[in-house]
Amino acid sequence: MSADIIDGKAAAATLRETIAVAVAAMKADHELQPGLAVVLVGEDPASQVYVRNKGVATEKAGMRSIEHRLPADATEEAVTDLVRRLNADDTVDGILVQLPLPDHINSARVIEEIDPAKDVDGLTEANAGRLMLGKPGLVPCTPQGSIILAKSVRGNLSGLHAVVVGRSILVGKPLAMLLLAENCTVTMAHSRTKNLAEVCRGADILCAAVGRPRMIGGDWVKEGAIIIDVGINRIEEDGKNRLVGDVDFDAAKVRASAITPVPGGVGPMTIACLLRNTVIAAARRRGFSDPAV
Ligand code: GUN
Repeated sequence: MSADIIDGKAAAATLRETIAVAVAAMKADHELQPGLAVVLVGEDPASQVYVRNKGVATEKAGMRSIEHRLPADATEEAVTDLVRRLNADDTVDGILVQLPLPDHINSARVIEEIDPAKDVDGLTEANAGRLMLGKPGLVPCTPQGSIILAKSVRGNLSGLHAVVVGRSILVGKPLAMLLLAENCTVTMAHSRTKNLAEVCRGADILCAAVGRPRMIGGDWVKEGAIIIDVGINRIEEDGKNRLVGDVDFDAAKVRASAITPVPGGVGPMTIACLLRNTVIAAARRRGFSDPAV
């Protein structure tokens, strides 16, 4: 068997088109142009690329992109002051503070300053709590994108055994909650899990979000499993820089029924879901019904 390769680029392009239509309707019906503010502290090269891509995608969807760059030695107070100003700015519908922040800044305290109604990353206690309680809120983008891709393969995930490897706040934990909401039986695995390979072999849906290149080998994959690889790891191989996932793609694809590639899988969905959250936040903040995105 050779797995279907799940085309995240195409799925993201489709979602972005739908979002652009919703944005155009908001402009026509309410003279409203949603705005997304991104805060970047320091000069981390990978973060600069992400922020630039977010800005381009935001404008392409017809929304306003606002970028704030602070120096690497900015104080925590300077960052929280900026977040408070963005909270108070009515032209800003979404606020994203690019992570990781420099070590001297307490990320949790900064994130908690974001108005939950503008928290398009879904990372505040209010939104994380809503997700846990099954209440509507803003949901973290990468987990949301992962679910959309899994459902593009199998519309109904109910009853499937999902194994999530990785327990980060940004991906692993919220992804487990979303899978549970889809009626999956969910196992959360991590670096201390005993017999990790054996646990993974039990998965109908295997989600890898650990940040370790090709950690999940082909023999960890059940025949016919759906693999969602969230890892984006830069490695040097054969004298070249390459991006690889947390799953050994070539070995896994002969056992899985469907697999997301890296790059071109979950990655493009993250930005599309960020745009989706921004347009949803813009509507909800004003008491409009949710846009059809
Ligand atoms: N850094 C890497 N991914 C993300 C993300 O989804 N949100 C934020 N805020 N920072 C990130």
